[in-house]
Amino acid sequence: MSEVVYPHQQANSLWSSRMAFILAAAGSAVGLGNIWKFPYITGENGGGAFVLIYLAFIFLIGVPVLIAEIMIGRRGGQSPVATMRTLTETENTARGWRIIGWNGVVASFLVLSFYAVIGGWALVYIGKTAIGLFAGADAEAVGGQFNDLLASPWELLLWHSVFMAIVVFIVARGVRSGLEKAVNMLMPLLFVLLVVMVIYAMNSGSFGRAVHFMFSPDFSKLTTEGVLIALGHAAFTLSIGIGVLMAYGSYLPKSINIARTAMTIAVVDTSVALLAGLAIFPLVFANGLEAGAGPGLIFVTLPLAFGQMGAGTLFGTVFFALLLVAAITSAISMLEPVVEWLEERKGASRVRSAIGGGLAVWFVGIGTVLSFNLWSDVHPLGLIGFFEGRTVFGLLDFLVTNLMMPLGGLAIALFAGWAIRREGLAQDIGLSGAAYQAFMVVLKYVTPAGIAIVFLYNLV
Ligand code: PFF
Repeated sequence: MSEVVYPHQQANSLWSSRMAFILAAAGSAVGLGNIWKFPYITGENGGGAFVLIYLAFIFLIGVPVLIAEIMIGRRGGQSPVATMRTLTETENTARGWRIIGWNGVVASFLVLSFYAVIGGWALVYIGKTAIGLFAGADAEAVGGQFNDLLASPWELLLWHSVFMAIVVFIVARGVRSGLEKAVNMLMPLLFVLLVVMVIYAMNSGSFGRAVHFMFSPDFSKLTTEGVLIALGHAAFTLSIGIGVLMAYGSYLPKSINIARTAMTIAVVDTSVALLAGLAIFPLVFANGLEAGAGPGLIFVTLPLAFGQMGAGTLFGTVFFALLLVAAITSAISMLEPVVEWLEERKGASRVRSAIGGGLAVWFVGIGTVLSFNLWSDVHPLGLIGFFEGRTVFGLLDFLVTNLMMPLGGLAIALFAGWAIRREGLAQDIGLSGAAYQAFMVVLKYVTPAGIAIVFLYNLV
């Protein structure tokens, strides 16, 4: 049988190097999830025990799914939907697995709709910090700034729109020129700035308390829903289960070792999240703020710190600018499955697909904009237990992060572990001998069982 070469696997569209792929995939993984979300959900879920469970999920569930998803993407070499359609045929599996591709397109569409609104917050904070608004400000003033922003639908809408416009512009320009350039230099710089913030936080006086909060587990503070949130976040932060890495993997040359690459991505991503926590919690405790304050946590603690430190205006401005870059490199990855689907399905050009898809996402994002003000009391699906009391934003976040992403991950693990051909699999993944055997045991049993148990516990 002659080897079929799928569209994305043609030499001219492949990633130029392993490094280029790592940067793009790590750019997708590292984002608001690490710096905005990880600290605030850690705060809401009591600290240490949550962090421990989250770390276990990253390595026992996240990494295997990450490997499987990239491998599937490379085998299929097309958009997630077309990849899954092709693979169910070439690998002779049940057609039902195609749902993995569809789940990806829908989930990545929905996740971007709210992610872009938070990305807009990062945009606003570049400006607020740059004009010195926080210089010498106290906790109350900084908190007031954030609440004022949330209370203003027009302001949120404006920045949501600007954020989406940037994302569409980059995606429209295509994989090579658009994606690679954006991530090359700025991600390492963000890492350095986070380290500087941690050093600053070490001297702020409450570092010990923060370390204790983050790393000494008290399981009495962890609820079953907290465990589900940790699972969802492990998926969210690695961008797995929704086709994004399948789409990126479709451009990956055969020569690149997926297992090693996936491990690198997971380690980088986890380090950024832990650094963000170590930068933020000392400030939270030193300033008598509430660890469980919710989504505003970093937008209150960090400006407060920037307002007090030397050259804080400059430093803070650069920090928020880099946070924006991190958010953009994640957001462009979310638009990728949607755009690829539109290109293939509707035969539209990349530019048209990016604009059309982006507009639709932008529109749905208005629901999130309103969740923080006019619709703060609107709870769609409020009568269904799981969704009770959630705004549009809360609902979308819960639906995508805690349901669609982990369940997508479960399906991917099962598909790669049980359904597809074993022939050539070890080589595809980049493992051999005992390491491969061990990996397969984890992928086939540990990962699916882990996800299933968390869900069962939450349902019962
Ligand atoms: N991993 C990104 C973050 O941590 O900010 C968020 C994300 C990117 C989620 C891509 C989903 C996705 F498809």
